[in-house]
Amino acid sequence: MINVGIIGAGAVVRRGHLPALKDMKEINVKAIADIDENLAKNVAREFQIPSFCSEPLKIIKDPSIDLIDICTPSDTHCELIKLAAQEGKNILVEKPLTTTIEDALQAYHAVVEAGVKLNVVQNWRYFPAVFQVKERINQGYLGKIVGMEGVALTNFPTAWTRSKWLYSQGGVLFDFAPHLIDLMIWLNGSEVKAVYALGGDITGGNMGFVNHAQVIMEFDNGATATAIISWVTESFTFTVDVYGTGGNITLDVRNAHYYEMHGAQTPLDDIRRVIGKTLRVTKDILNKNYFKGAMLYYKPLIRDFIKSIKENREEPVPIRHGVMVTAVLDGAFRSLRKRQAIYLDNIFDIA
Ligand SMILES: NC(=O)c1ccc[n+]([C@@H]2O[C@H](COP(=O)([O-])OP(=O)(O)OC[C@H]3O[C@@H](n4cnc5c(N)ncnc54)[C@H](O)[C@@H]3O)[C@@H](O)[C@H]2O)c1
Repeated sequence: MINVGIIGAGAVVRRGHLPALKDMKEINVKAIADIDENLAKNVAREFQIPSFCSEPLKIIKDPSIDLIDICTPSDTHCELIKLAAQEGKNILVEKPLTTTIEDALQAYHAVVEAGVKLNVVQNWRYFPAVFQVKERINQGYLGKIVGMEGVALTNFPTAWTRSKWLYSQGGVLFDFAPHLIDLMIWLNGSEVKAVYALGGDITGGNMGFVNHAQVIMEFDNGATATAIISWVTESFTFTVDVYGTGGNITLDVRNAHYYEMHGAQTPLDDIRRVIGKTLRVTKDILNKNYFKGAMLYYKPLIRDFIKSIKENREEPVPIRHGVMVTAVLDGAFRSLRKRQAIYLDNIFDIA
């Protein structure tokens, strides 16, 4: 049995973490902390958690707790990771790992020095279509990857959480973008060496935070990529197109569907793609999975993480990968301010 303590009692805990954790026999959720004690109390009551408090350290220092689940605003992750690592706890942390490269590296060193396990929550990776695309790439069906195009468009997430912390500085770059950047790095299997970003606050500076950006990346393996990330499009789209020397894949993550093409594309490809996607979405609507979206994938992700702890092998989304995702997001934010490319060589050497 693994005893879990949760830090943060907001939207993602109620919709993603607790429905999964409470449905896993090997997990015992022992306690929850939120600086808003009333919220912690209500969530504890709703999910039958025996203990709640307003002080995260109380849970982190509890010797009976094995795993700390960090679900607080992203700029608080670093401090909580360091405290949990010092206490020898394994850690599940929401994406993004942190919002600055300096914090990411502090967290990285704390985790490596303590010898604990940490997994970043990248639940969008767990759509079966995404795993299938990764498998096709690994098996060499696309040849060498030379280019990628990612799109992550959402509305302002006001229907998700009433919290205001998202609407500052990097804004959308640290909200939906971590899922897209994670997928692009993971599918390509190569680290990013340079980032250039365009956009920012495209309301003419009225909002004071990034609400739209186009991020251009160059990978170590020579591939180039572009990611369009926006809160201002009134749309909900999450797609990644992968171009290789041996073929292309167009992946629609939200609709759990991919289509692979070789040679010249014909209207027949369009017809097959539309039929395939329609069948996929109809099936998911009928079995109600469509409406659960990425929340459905907390369970397999947590299960994989626990397996990696038990077998003492690398986590599904290890901290080193989390550092790379943060480096790209932070690099994009710095690029927007400096209006120049940011080079990410040797990020692990930054003091
Ligand atoms: N993986 C996903 O699909 C997904 C979806 C949404 C959010 N997230 C991530 O989850 C995290 C939380 O997002 P959310 O939407 O639940 O936000 P939220 O604002 O709804 O909840 C955060 C909670 O943390 C509490 N809190 C703030 N600082 C704290 C501290 N130092 N100690 C204890 N509690 C503290 C707040 O009072 C609040 O209740 C973020 O990192 C976000 O990026 C991930």
